[in-house]
Amino acid sequence: MLQHAKRALLGDLAAFSSDPLGFVEERLIGETRPLPVRFANRTVVLVARPDAVQHVLVDAAERYGKSRYQARLRPLLGDGMITASGERWAHARRAARPGLAGDALDKGVDLALPLVAQELARQAAALGRPVEVPELAGRLTMRMAAAAMFHHVMDDETADEVYLASRFLHERITQSMLRFIDFDSVLPTPRRARFHSTIARMNRLAADIARQNGGLLPLLAPLHAQHGPAVTRDEIITLLFAGFETTAQVASWVLYVLACRPDLVAWIRQETAPLLARGGDLEAQALRALKRTRAVVDEVMRLYPSTWWIAREALQDDQLCGLAVARGTPVLIVPWALHRQPDLWDSADAFDPMRFLEGAPVKFAYMPFGVGPRACVGMQLARANVTAIAALLTAAFDLQALSGRYDRLRPVGGVTLAPPVGGLQLSFRLRRQ
Ligand code: HEM
Repeated sequence: MLQHAKRALLGDLAAFSSDPLGFVEERLIGETRPLPVRFANRTVVLVARPDAVQHVLVDAAERYGKSRYQARLRPLLGDGMITASGERWAHARRAARPGLAGDALDKGVDLALPLVAQELARQAAALGRPVEVPELAGRLTMRMAAAAMFHHVMDDETADEVYLASRFLHERITQSMLRFIDFDSVLPTPRRARFHSTIARMNRLAADIARQNGGLLPLLAPLHAQHGPAVTRDEIITLLFAGFETTAQVASWVLYVLACRPDLVAWIRQETAPLLARGGDLEAQALRALKRTRAVVDEVMRLYPSTWWIAREALQDDQLCGLAVARGTPVLIVPWALHRQPDLWDSADAFDPMRFLEGAPVKFAYMPFGVGPRACVGMQLARANVTAIAALLTAAFDLQALSGRYDRLRPVGGVTLAPPVGGLQLSFRLRRQ
């Protein structure tokens, strides 16, 4: 009876909220058209086909804006590059891009690489103990992102504190997005108070980073005159958040899959061994040559895309691949399902990095970093950091999976992908030659 009433009120939102990944798999895999569903009193269109992705994010991108779901991110991200639109967004993106490409990127990655070496030393001192991979990856990628983008070195205590703060923020924002009515957003609950005090902690971190004004931050100075001083705070928090959670998620699955697949570890060691034998230290430029390691990272991002859904909203009435979409309709693009479409991928469920060495995917069938004008600005940085983590940790250690086979585990579909409920543990062992 209650179930029936819930379903009548919430429509498909009830099933979506209880198991978002299961819901999109069931409804979208094998579906060739955009699919309207009902979330409470709204029609929402789900998309997991290349032609529809191309339409919404590229060809007709000006007809689809960032959706109202983004409003839930604003208390944290303010008016940064992810939440902003129009001239404010375009200006920030133009300003920041050179700091995330070319020589500036290489310089940043070179500053981040010693942090992986520190992690190796830490793990070498405690071989054999169970390690929660998302925690290791979270702290490490956060420090790497801060070093690479802002030339800011976080001490251990700050990294721990900020990592725990971000985990709470991630959970809280996910909750607020999936609830029909989110009381913690409007009533003076303890959770709301904690949310605001955690944001205050992040603001102090942003202020410390801003004071140093390193890395790409001087590039943002021209924005102040036009858009006010909050620009720096908002972009620091946006870049750090957009940058580290997503990267940590990918790094976690890369390490965990490798812990289950010694065949792949042996395969990538063949390309890392000559590089490391030469000088011992890996440099940013050399990472580009690690084609096998990068293919493992690409395959992880196919099956575990951190941004497993991307939200837009129709700014005007439109025809989306034959479906009439009314102005104001939310459109959810779902890489989780797109990356598993059986007609677009051979053995879609199998983990097979070779597919990325043998040929390019169908256009718009693979989009872990989004596509079009709002595609990820940190793509190269993310790839470099994860490649470095995978190459260096597997070169130093054997990895033993402690949470079971990767293909029996399931991440949680939150605002971005989150680790499986039971965690993702492995241990590092002395490498057998
Ligand atoms: C593996 C790691 C990463 C993944 C999977 C990822 C994924 C994405 C995706 C799918 C989008 C497009 C969202 C949309 O269209 O609504 C995006 C946007 C963005 N990403 Fe990333 N990202 C990653 C790492 C990074 C890093 C390291 C940075 C740091 C610079 C970053 C900064 C951003 C920003 C600022 C945007 C908004 C761009 C805009 O709207 O113009 N991301 N990311």
